[in-house]
Amino acid sequence: MKKIAVLLSGRGSNFISIKKAVDAGEIDGEIAVVISNKADAKGLEFAKESGLNAVFVNPKDFDGREAYDTEIVRILEENGTELVCLAGFMRIISSVFVDAFRNRIINIHPSLLPSFKGLDAQKQALEYGVKFAGCTVHFVDEEMDNGAIILQSVVPVEQDDTEDDLCARILVEEHKLYPEVVRLFCADKLKVEGRRVVINL
Ligand code: GRF
Repeated sequence: MKKIAVLLSGRGSNFISIKKAVDAGEIDGEIAVVISNKADAKGLEFAKESGLNAVFVNPKDFDGREAYDTEIVRILEENGTELVCLAGFMRIISSVFVDAFRNRIINIHPSLLPSFKGLDAQKQALEYGVKFAGCTVHFVDEEMDNGAIILQSVVPVEQDDTEDDLCARILVEEHKLYPEVVRLFCADKLKVEGRRVVINL
């Protein structure tokens, strides 16, 4: 059973989707710690209410990104973390963090990477005029939204879509995709070969 850490900054719907899959016994893992950089993150409140180990780490208490990430790594190690799930964690992470957990940090991004990296990916997709959008779960490396892709899910973009419509359609897929990747990781089914992730089914 693998020890999973979830890092989040906001509402935490992806965290909840992972937790549900853990609680349902679909994932051979347990949530060891939930960490947020925002004291009032809904996801952090939910974690506390669920009786999970939930920690707020205030960026203001640290002098720079590396000092902050050193503390995050300390907490992760203290909790025996084997997999780190970034789930709406709105901070760039430094090489201190990436190095400590190489190929053990995953992230979900609401676009078909490598298109539309960064903020407001769904808005970027709408404005660009793509006919298909989606979400990606990938390993995290030093560059933002750049690491090896594990799984993707595709949704159509409809003519009359608003940004909210597209966000909602993608989010439904995110909530299936992220737990599935966590399940595969915890079952030791993922192998990284350069930029490619081979899934041993
Ligand atoms: C999701 O759209 C995710 O793809 C992106 O940030 C959002 C987080 O939403 N990285 P939530 O906090 O999981 O509800």
